[in-house]
Amino acid sequence: MDVTPLREFPDTSWGDDGPTRGVEAVVEAGAVLVFPNLPFALSDDERKFLDPRWADGHAKNISLRWPAGEMRGARGEAADLAALQAMITRYAAQSEALALRLFPHYRGHLLRGNSSLRPVDVAGRQTSWRKDDTRLHIDAFPSNPMHGTRLLRVFCNVNPQGQPRRWRVGEPFEAHAMRYLPAIRRPLHGSAWLLEKVGITKRRRTEYDHLMLQLHDRAKADVQFQRDSPQARVDFAPGTTWIVFSDQVLHAAMGGQHMLEQTFYLDLQHQLQPQASPRATLERLLGRELR
Ligand code: SIN
Ligand code: FE
Repeated sequence: MDVTPLREFPDTSWGDDGPTRGVEAVVEAGAVLVFPNLPFALSDDERKFLDPRWADGHAKNISLRWPAGEMRGARGEAADLAALQAMITRYAAQSEALALRLFPHYRGHLLRGNSSLRPVDVAGRQTSWRKDDTRLHIDAFPSNPMHGTRLLRVFCNVNPQGQPRRWRVGEPFEAHAMRYLPAIRRPLHGSAWLLEKVGITKRRRTEYDHLMLQLHDRAKADVQFQRDSPQARVDFAPGTTWIVFSDQVLHAAMGGQHMLEQTFYLDLQHQLQPQASPRATLERLLGRELR
């Protein structure tokens, strides 16, 4: 049975001198792009930031929000916090340079989302089933309707002790949608309005968002799916960078500590092949347009 493919690339540099470019179709088809020789370089001074003590204890991640780049979730002396912010900012800039080289078609349309440093051990995270990222899922968030906008993520394992980031990847998006679509009801009339009105959603939850959230929730709640569905284990060693459309690729984080992550948003119409998107796939399966 089919699982998400991995494609390896030899790049050793984030900048414009690397060999790989024009691979939009590969990532849009739902592959994981893996760069085993693309470490994010930390200075000697920065190595101290690979320690959960810099996290403020409330959030599991330290993150930067753009366009201003303000930092959330960290604690420490002002000088250290400035250095930490500069390090994560450098990751954001390098990720963006890489993404624009790999995906030149997205130039001018890739919007920088949050950047995060994830210093907390995956194994030690206690959460509800809905937030449990050790269960296979596509990314979809209750409060943040995407309206079809794509979530492109650049991850890099910066673990200093040789520990891999251990993932599972699952079945391709279309097979996944076919598994659950027949059971998903349309949203209740007026519910999207109400969710927005009371502030549960930041903007209107469309039927597309409803379906994506249902796929996310049904997969995570389905113990048999988690255990028996087509899947593969993937270990990303330190020094590895990988890129996915995380709203399309079934993924789960099983272990590891110390990772950097950069999110980008891309409007559906600026994909090279919009017909490969989750939204177009859902529309094809349903035989009608989604709004
Ligand atoms: C996720 O996006 O589900 C988690 C990825 C990770 O922390 O490795
Ligand atoms: Fe996820």
